[in-house]
Amino acid sequence: MTTLDARAVPADSTSTERLSSAGLEYRVVDFSDDERATGFQRAADRGFLGAEPNAESLAQARKTFAERRNVAVYEAGASVSALPVATTNAWVTPLTVPGGAEVGMWAISMVTVAATHRRRGIARSLLEGELRAAASAGVPIAGLTATEATIYGRYGFGSAIPVSRFTVDTRQAGWGGVAPLGRIEYIDRETLAADIAMVHDRVRRGVPGRIAGWQGRWEGISGAAATVHDRDKVRGIRYLDEEGVLRGALAYTLREKGETFRFALDVGILVAETPDALAALWRFALQHDLVDEVTADLRPVDDPLPWLVLDPRGVNQVVHDHGWLRILDVPAALTARRFSAPLDAVIRVEDPLGFARGDWRLRAGSDSTATVERAEGAGPDITLDVSALSSLYAGGVRASSLHGAGRIAADASAVEALDRAMISFPVPSLDIWY
Ligand SMILES: CC(C)(COP(=O)(O)OP(=O)(O)OC[C@H]1O[C@@H](n2cnc3c(N)ncnc32)[C@H](O)[C@@H]1OP(=O)(O)O)[C@@H](O)C(=O)NCCC(=O)NCCS
Repeated sequence: MTTLDARAVPADSTSTERLSSAGLEYRVVDFSDDERATGFQRAADRGFLGAEPNAESLAQARKTFAERRNVAVYEAGASVSALPVATTNAWVTPLTVPGGAEVGMWAISMVTVAATHRRRGIARSLLEGELRAAASAGVPIAGLTATEATIYGRYGFGSAIPVSRFTVDTRQAGWGGVAPLGRIEYIDRETLAADIAMVHDRVRRGVPGRIAGWQGRWEGISGAAATVHDRDKVRGIRYLDEEGVLRGALAYTLREKGETFRFALDVGILVAETPDALAALWRFALQHDLVDEVTADLRPVDDPLPWLVLDPRGVNQVVHDHGWLRILDVPAALTARRFSAPLDAVIRVEDPLGFARGDWRLRAGSDSTATVERAEGAGPDITLDVSALSSLYAGGVRASSLHGAGRIAADASAVEALDRAMISFPVPSLDIWY
């Protein structure tokens, strides 16, 4: 996969004009300009209801932001030091798709609109501008994680990569899994950041829905960055297999429940390359002395945890939306992935923004690859909007569910064929926020 530097993509002209007519200036921020960069970061923190950043946290976040295409909206004529009234940023990252290939995804983050400027259509201009910028650069799909599940469907994003949040009553759950053969050791924060990065990168290449991490993400989650709130509470361990090879790592914090000497162990991230490593790290958490509750979010929906304990009723699993995708180029996106069963159908995709709109003949063969071409004249077998197609894309959402909810119009046999073809093994998952 060739990666593209999103920073080279100019500001979208339609959004520039639209915001200009509302007295606003829309631009790609020059991050070599310290004042502009600082204003952008302060506005983003304010937009996410965070504290005013200090010099140290600005410098830490700058490393990540400087790698991205930062777009801001200003009041026309505002001084260079004025904070923007809206922010977003984007970069092109590899997204693993069913079958194990990678496609370039336009990852969108830091979408904020100042509380003084909300509900005037600024976010719409930002989001549509990002999608046009991505499409103009030839990027076939966009993705994001969302603070609220109600914001992005209107732009054609679909909830595509659901994940699990676990809360474990360790005393009830017990442990019913194997005793792993390798060993676990405590590691310092810097080693933890490096080990998480290494295992994550190996694992993400084989799991649909995953994207590449970045240094700032690992420094944050491991407490290696001096700016992390409560960094001293972060603990880290790693798992080495029988040969001494690194296979997994766990970042976690401990929280005392009142003054009881009973603790909750909150998993920051757990990365594991082998079933043995996964079992070892879960066992460490669940069998920890003085810990009677373990929490973990962003786990795969097929995480074996409920099967590793003696009493699965001690494991509460809540599935929720996490990764959202938005197809921009139907042929490029669909031909990049593999299909689990043959399919030959004309699919009508509705897309108010136009990128994916049309009738497409999708043919997936017994070798699991597909061809996609414009279907002229033939009536559709399946009709759905781009949000529903994007939900299906990673293979973790059932066509039968969307059909049942009225999001796909097709007869029963077409739904079954679509369902069988799109579903993915391994199950897609996404273990970070971005
Ligand atoms: C979410 C946010 C960016 C929206 O910005 P905004 O400029 O007020 O949004 P717009 O005026 O462009 O609204 C566009 C549409 O989204 C809807 N919308 C906006 N915010 C919404 C929300 N939080 N939940 C549901 N719908 C929302 C609007 O009603 C409007 O709907 P319509 O197209 O059907 O008329 C802004 O409220 C914000 O900064 N929130 C805090 C930070 C945050 O959560 N950002 C999202 C990060 S993933």
